[in-house]
Amino acid sequence: GAPVEVDISAVKPGEKITVEWRGKPVWIIRRTPEMLATLKQTDPLVADPNSERKAYPTPDYAKNEGRSRKPDIFVAVGICTHLGCSPTDKLQPGPQPSLPDDWQGGFLCPCHGSTFDLAGRVFKNKPAPDNLEIPPYEFLSDTRLIIG
Ligand code: FES
Repeated sequence: GAPVEVDISAVKPGEKITVEWRGKPVWIIRRTPEMLATLKQTDPLVADPNSERKAYPTPDYAKNEGRSRKPDIFVAVGICTHLGCSPTDKLQPGPQPSLPDDWQGGFLCPCHGSTFDLAGRVFKNKPAPDNLEIPPYEFLSDTRLIIG
């Protein structure tokens, strides 16, 4: 499939847009400092904090805590790595007492309950074998990126 160019200038802090790439939904989220701060809390709770698993190999440029080229801009394929359901999101950071895993915001797969943090890292002991897939992407400028 052809690469997809995306203008992210209208994406406000804390917001997510979804674009289609190779028939898959790709999420682009502009994370706030508060959202990024939750990753420190989830580091010990996720199964693969450094993205070393290989089911959906993480590109080298995203092998960091935020799993992204730029800390604030998160780009990920919005498909659960278990059996392909579409996770829902809770982007407002902070404790979610009604939800499992000391969740601080992130993504919840409705099919079998896998949970992911705001970097798409799967929590421990979940059916999903890997973190959310990071597609190939590059920034063309501060406001444009290309996926694929
Ligand atoms: Fe997401 Fe099974 S498809 S947990």
